[in-house]
Amino acid sequence: MNKKGFIFDLDGVIVDTAKYHFLAWQQLAKGLDINFTEEENEQLKGVSRVRSLEKILAWGNKTISQDLFNELMSKKNEEYLSYIAEMDESEILPDVPRVLNTLKAQNQPISLGSASKNARIILDRVHLKSSFDAIVDGNDVTKAKPDPEVFLIAAKEINIKPEDCIVFEDSVAGVTAANAANMISIGIGSKDVLGHATYVFNDFTEISDDFIKSLIEN
Ligand code: G6P
Ligand code: MG
Repeated sequence: MNKKGFIFDLDGVIVDTAKYHFLAWQQLAKGLDINFTEEENEQLKGVSRVRSLEKILAWGNKTISQDLFNELMSKKNEEYLSYIAEMDESEILPDVPRVLNTLKAQNQPISLGSASKNARIILDRVHLKSSFDAIVDGNDVTKAKPDPEVFLIAAKEINIKPEDCIVFEDSVAGVTAANAANMISIGIGSKDVLGHATYVFNDFTEISDDFIKSLIEN
C-alpha cells in the first residue's frame, strides 16, 4: 500500500481554541486600552504568540518596553492555559476522529504541525496524543508559519518526502507554509479565505473516506 504523510495543524483543525486565544488576547488588550475585535483575532490564526502581540500593539499604536512585552506574553499564556485546562474530548471538531481512524486503518503515518507551544498539553487534554506518530510544535521551530519549517520537520519525523505529504490547515499562513513545503494543502474553512489551498472544505464532515483513499493512492 502507498504511504503518504498526513500532517495536521492543531488550533482550528483538530480543536477550536481560537475562542480561548481571543478571550486571553482581549483581556490583555483591554489592560492596554486597545480595542481588539474578533475580525482582528481572525488574522492571528496560525500566527505565533510573539508575532500576535506585535500585531495587537501595532493595531493599537502602542510601543512598550521589552520587559513589559515579555511580561504580557507570560500573562496571556497563563490566562490561555487556564482555559485549556478545562478542555476535554467534547471539544474535538466534528469528524476529526473518523478521519484519523481511517488513516490509521490504512497504515498512514500522521504528524502534528502546529505553531503552538501548548500543543502537547491540548492533545493530552483531548486524549489524542496517541493518534500521532510525531508531534512538531512551536517549541521545535525557529521560523514561524508561513515559513515551511514546521511541516518539513513534521515530514522528516515520519520519514515521508515533502511532496508525498498532505497538510490540513485552517490559516492563511499555514496554507502558504504547506504550499512552500511543496505539499498538498487542504484548507479547512472558507474558500474566500483559503483559496490558495489545493483543496478547501468547510470542515471534516465534508471529507469522505473515499477522498482520503484517493489522496493515499495518487
Ligand atoms: C496557533 C494559533 C495562534 C497562536 C499560535 C501560538 O497557530 O492559531 O492563534 O497564536 O498557535 O500558540 P501558543 O499556544 O504557543 O500561544
Ligand atoms: Mg490553525
